[in-house]
Amino acid sequence: MGAGIAQVAARAGYDVVMRDVAQEFLARGMTAIDKSLQRDVDKDRLSTDEKGAILARIRTTTDVGAVSDAFIVVEAATEDLKIKGEVFRTLDEVTQPDAILASNTSSISITKLGAVTRRPDKVIGMHFMNPVPVMKLVEVIRGAATSDETHRRTRALAEKLGKMPLECQDSPGFISNRVLMPMINEAICALYEGVATRESIDGIMRLGMNHPMGPLALADFIGLDVCLAIMNVLHDGFGDSKYRPCPLLKRYVDAGWLGKKTGRGFYEY
Ligand code: 3HC
Repeated sequence: MGAGIAQVAARAGYDVVMRDVAQEFLARGMTAIDKSLQRDVDKDRLSTDEKGAILARIRTTTDVGAVSDAFIVVEAATEDLKIKGEVFRTLDEVTQPDAILASNTSSISITKLGAVTRRPDKVIGMHFMNPVPVMKLVEVIRGAATSDETHRRTRALAEKLGKMPLECQDSPGFISNRVLMPMINEAICALYEGVATRESIDGIMRLGMNHPMGPLALADFIGLDVCLAIMNVLHDGFGDSKYRPCPLLKRYVDAGWLGKKTGRGFYEY
C-alpha cells in the first residue's frame, strides 16, 4: 500500500520519498506504480510525459533519515504494534518537530502510536484502501491526543490527493475493518464448515449483494496475514468471542498461504 500512497501523492504533484527496509521492496513498489500508471496511459488518461514526471517525483531510499524534511510521513509498515511503534519512535527523532506522523494502519490504536512519540498531537490515522489509486476513501482516525490542527491538515491533504476523508474515533478496527473483517471471517468459517464452496460463497456475495469481489477473493487480495492481524486486534480490543479468528484463517497463515502476494490463498494465482 505504501507504493499506492506514494503514487497518488506524486500524481497530485508532491515530491515523495518512498522509504523501505530493503532495495528489493522499493523495486517491487516502483514496478507496481509503473504498471498502475501505464493503465491510464493505455486508456489515454495520462500522457507518457506526465507518467515520466510522476515517476520522477518519487525518490526511493532505505535511509530513514531521507524523510527529515517531510511535512508529513505516512507509515505503511507491517501490521504489528511493535514494528509500528519502533517506526514511530524513529520518525519522531528524524523529522521536523512540526511534521505530521500519519499511520496507514488497518486497526492498530493511533493513541498507542502517538504515545511513543513526543508529539502525540501530531499523530493521526490516514487509512487508505486497496488498491489505493482506485479507492476514494481515506479513513481519518483521531487518537486521544490528536489536535484539531493535525486533523484539519490531514483532511486537506487527503482531498488534495483526490480522496474523500471520513472521520472516526480511535477504536479497534476503526469503522472499515470492524465491519468488513467479521464478514470476511464469517465467510472463511462457512468454508471451514463445508457450508459451500469458495466459488459459491464469493458468487453469492458478488451477485447477491453487488460486492465487486467475494469475501474470500477479497481476503486473498488484502493478505490473509493482514486479515488475521486485524481479527486479533478486534478480538483482543473488544474481548468479545464474536471476533474470534476462524481456525482455517490461522491455518492458512501458518502454512504461508497469504493470498495473492504468495501465489496461494483461498485461490491459486
Ligand atoms: N491501479 C490503477 N488502477 C486500477 C488498479 C490499480 N492497481 N486496479 C484496478 N484499477 C482500475 C482499472 O484500470 C479500471 O479502471 P476503469 O474502470 O476506469 O477503466 C478499474 O480500476 C476497474 O478495474 P478492472 O476492470 O481491472 O477490475 P475490476 O472491475 O474487477 O476492479 C477492483 C478491480 C477495483 C479491485 C474491484 O474489484 C474492487 O473494487 N474490489 C474491492 C476492493 C476493496 O474492497 N478494497 C478495500 C479492501 S480493505 C482495505 O484495503 C483496508 C485494509 O485495511 C485491509
